[in-house]
Amino acid sequence: MAGERIMELKDISISYVSKKEKTDAVRNVSFQLDKGSILGLVGESGCGKSTLASVFLKLIYPPSKLMGGSLNYYGRGDEEDILNLKPPDLRRYRWKEVAMIFQGSMNSLNPVMKVEDQIIDVMIDHDYSYTEAMNSVDKLLQMAGISKRVRSLYPHELSGGMKQRVNIAIALSCEPKVLIADEPTTALDVVVQDQIIKKLESLRNELGLSILFISHDISLVGVIADKIAIMYAGKIVEIGKATDIMNNPKHQYTIALLSSIPSLEDSGKKVKGIPGKPPVLNREIIGCAFADRCAKATERCRSEEPQLEQVDSEHLSACYFPG
Ligand SMILES: Nc1ncnc2c1ncn2[C@@H]1O[C@H](COP(=O)(O)OP(=O)(O)O)[C@@H](O)[C@H]1O
Ligand SMILES: [Mg+2]
Repeated sequence: MAGERIMELKDISISYVSKKEKTDAVRNVSFQLDKGSILGLVGESGCGKSTLASVFLKLIYPPSKLMGGSLNYYGRGDEEDILNLKPPDLRRYRWKEVAMIFQGSMNSLNPVMKVEDQIIDVMIDHDYSYTEAMNSVDKLLQMAGISKRVRSLYPHELSGGMKQRVNIAIALSCEPKVLIADEPTTALDVVVQDQIIKKLESLRNELGLSILFISHDISLVGVIADKIAIMYAGKIVEIGKATDIMNNPKHQYTIALLSSIPSLEDSGKKVKGIPGKPPVLNREIIGCAFADRCAKATERCRSEEPQLEQVDSEHLSACYFPG
């Protein structure tokens, strides 16, 4: 795809392995993140998004296991193979080059530490001096869009939106070039959701940050992303420019996701969702993983897995019934 890449994943596979079973949460995922752009990663809960996110910081520990693939980083000029970095080099990479807002991290701020100390801790951990860290707090809170008064407060004194902004401040503290944001607005009300999205967008514009924005909500991703990747049962099933994915979707799963967005007249009603559930990933999937829930599925869909193929310029889809 066009655009200067800052990261490129090739054939990433990650499984959860226990004595009893193996869950193939991420299966042969390849894509690139363009410099200064926002890539949306969308799929229902259980499709492997958070597992995939863990690869960007090489945070893959048992029972999670990297089964194969590579992750190249271009943020420091030369191509670097992140999955082969050793601990000292990983320390210089994590947070300083690529930072992450973890799913649910809004509720995992340390309840007995003031906001400023939580920011300072992360910075000191990454070789900033105490004074340097101390002096950065006001600026970081301002970048995240909250008053510097918040620095001396404790998490329980903050609203959900403010807590998430503190997380944004923490993520920005070591001046990363890439931000992985895993469901950063889930559990926030729509108004605050919108503010956080606008904040991430302005950070991209002002700092040139490259962002992987992960969400189960395609309508939200459609607002913010330049490109969108749709994930289903551990695989990318469609990827393309956001306008193409939103207006001219090709994969039947994407079409189903889009048609489950409540219309304006329905606003306030619960999203109706796609009937059925994504498949469990602890046994081999034959054919298209979405076939069981797809009205168009044929015998071929159930027996022969469709591969990602180009359907338009910069637009790939893995479906025998495009559009
Ligand atoms: N620690 C774990 N041990 C075993 N299986 C896991 C673990 N974490 C996630 N999974 C499984 O991996 C799959 C993908 O999960 P996840 O990456 O959290 O998806 P998403 O973020 O899209 O909701 C699911 O089937 C989930 O049950
Ligand atoms: Mg998740």
